[in-house]
Amino acid sequence: MSYYALVPAAGSGSRMGALSGRAMPKQYLPLAGKPLIWHALSTLCATPSIAAVFVVLAPDDVAWPEEAMAELGSRLHVMRCGGETRAQSVTNGLRGMVSELGAIDDDWVLVHDAARPCLEVAMIERLIAEVGDDDAGGLLAVPVADTLKSCDEHGRVRQTVPRDGLWQAQTPQMFRHRLLLDALDFAPQVTDEASAIESLGLMPKLVAADISNLKVTFPQDLKLAEWILRSREAAGKEPGNG
Ligand code: C5P
Repeated sequence: MSYYALVPAAGSGSRMGALSGRAMPKQYLPLAGKPLIWHALSTLCATPSIAAVFVVLAPDDVAWPEEAMAELGSRLHVMRCGGETRAQSVTNGLRGMVSELGAIDDDWVLVHDAARPCLEVAMIERLIAEVGDDDAGGLLAVPVADTLKSCDEHGRVRQTVPRDGLWQAQTPQMFRHRLLLDALDFAPQVTDEASAIESLGLMPKLVAADISNLKVTFPQDLKLAEWILRSREAAGKEPGNG
């Protein structure tokens, strides 16, 4: 049984660009001395259980920082087959993996957002250990801590939503290759892989992570991610290692 990582990185990061006034896709913005995407790729490449890491770029991507990525070694494979949506990029990536590796139906694929740079090796190992051989797969997630409100079109509270049993989904999300491909063919509109698996009637396992595995979406998230990475560095932790 092998484990592979798949990192969709074909987004334009429009929410980030619109607010920061920067045209560069968010995965390439500078973060703690490296391009943002470098951090997640570096952690995945440093995880002993993961045999290879595949990154999916937009076909017309001209900003991929070849030089910075070369140091991550031969376990990193670049595929220029990104699609219109995240789900399409993941689907194209799953098919591209078959072209490179051959049949990997029952092997595991850990899909991770390029925009979650504070992932740690220990988080990945915990996910793999807790999912085990459960065919429904699983994902890192955090229980919702804040009180949730739903609002009307004027931004006023309509009601308080009970938070019991609610979790925020993160990545990596891990599933068997064939099952994930079938699920995304069946439910191509999803915003994460777990939703596609759920649409087949399966119940992926939630594996508790922590909020440091944040997704960089808005400019202030970049500052927080920088602080987390620098604090770990100052505490003497190897980058990406919990
Ligand atoms: O935009 P958002 O933050 O939700 O994107 C999540 C991940 O999906 C990012 O890593 C982004 O690059 C990727 N993505 C993609 N192809 C798209 C849209 C997003 O690979 N068409």
